[in-house]
Amino acid sequence: MKRTILITGGAGFIGSHVVRLFVNKYPDYQIVNLDKLTYAGNLANLKDIEVKSNYSFVKGDITDSNFLIDLFAKYQFDGVIHLAAESHVDRSIANPLEFVLTNVVGTVNLLNAARNIWKDNYEGKRFYHISTDEVYGTLGENGLFTEETSYDPHSPYSASKASSDHFVRAYHDTYGLPVVVSNCSNNYGSFQFPEKLIPLFINNIRNNKPLPVYGKGENVRDWLWVEDHARAIDVIYHNGLDGDTYNIGGHNEWKNIDLIKVMCKVMDKKLNRPEGESEKLITYVKDRAGHDLRYAIDSSKLQRELGWKPSLQFEEGIEKTIDWYLNNHDWLEQVTSGDYLKYYEQQYTKR
Ligand code: NAD
Ligand code: DAU
Repeated sequence: MKRTILITGGAGFIGSHVVRLFVNKYPDYQIVNLDKLTYAGNLANLKDIEVKSNYSFVKGDITDSNFLIDLFAKYQFDGVIHLAAESHVDRSIANPLEFVLTNVVGTVNLLNAARNIWKDNYEGKRFYHISTDEVYGTLGENGLFTEETSYDPHSPYSASKASSDHFVRAYHDTYGLPVVVSNCSNNYGSFQFPEKLIPLFINNIRNNKPLPVYGKGENVRDWLWVEDHARAIDVIYHNGLDGDTYNIGGHNEWKNIDLIKVMCKVMDKKLNRPEGESEKLITYVKDRAGHDLRYAIDSSKLQRELGWKPSLQFEEGIEKTIDWYLNNHDWLEQVTSGDYLKYYEQQYTKR
């Protein structure tokens, strides 16, 4: 079946994997990637598919409602997969308003543009909003987030994502817009901007720079291979129920400090360093404000109802990820020059 699908944030980390999957797997679909190309957006993430005839890129900002109305009129999208966001918790602590504008106002603009073009005839249409497990707040030592867990966001980032989730569901309940939402745990893999834990630490180990561990490194995250998230998005886009929510997670909980030690060990081997050498770079720094202790996802609904499960064991995934960053030295060099250095200095020198 022919479809024209808008993917927002397709030049970012997860978005680029989703664009690649859809462009390659569905030659009959026209995939339009809309991205503002902020510091986190990079067209180099899509080099391998940029010449495909079913792919096009549009540079634009989802906070611009008139631009979106024109874009939807031009392409007459059948579906939207919405990933564009400000996504980094630390940046949200420094500049919350930017997160309200892109994550909340931008999402409402997209909902309005979809409603406007679909004119309340929703046959064959779908608005898929990609969200995060951080909206559920934090867990103690036990338990998992389910789709029924109440929202309890603690950072400006998670508050802005929670707000956008509420708007998406409100457009379903108020206007009947055919929406679906998924909430996913921490992703890792290729093309992640190196200000997030895993690529940042790979890059620092490579350059023999300190590894800034927030607090005591006791916080727990549930890590999922990014390509498994992209597969889940494919399954939910095509088979999820209108108005429904699906949790996506890796069943793969790690305390930060344990994860960091595994990375150090693997990197010692890859870089031919004596065992224990990279661990010496670990430096405990001031904790992140409002730092959630533990996230862990129950994704049994997605497994039971739509047949998805993670494909990759973490040990294999982290090794593949480290290999990718070591082999894509030019990509790392390109994204860590310029503004990155300024950000790095502001974020870490005063901790
Ligand atoms: P990212 O920061 O790598 O990419 C975000 C993309 O959005 C970038 O390409 C950026 O240029 C674009 N963008 C930002 N503001 C925009 C605007 N105003 N208009 C148009 N484009 C804009 O983020 P990511 O890690 O790939 O996350 C993608 C989505 O998945 C986000 O909605 C995030 O909340 C969600 N999510 C991320 C994770 C994770 O572990 N990274 C986990 C769960 C959910
Ligand atoms: O849970 C899903 C979320 O995962 C997504 O919604 C976010 O977009 C994504 O950025 C990610 O958020 P986190 O805050 O969990 O990811 P981050 O990589 O920033 O941090 C992971 C953990 O590592 C967290 O407990 C903070 C810690 N950390 C992070 C950095 C950057 C450090 O100890 N030192 C660091 O320098």
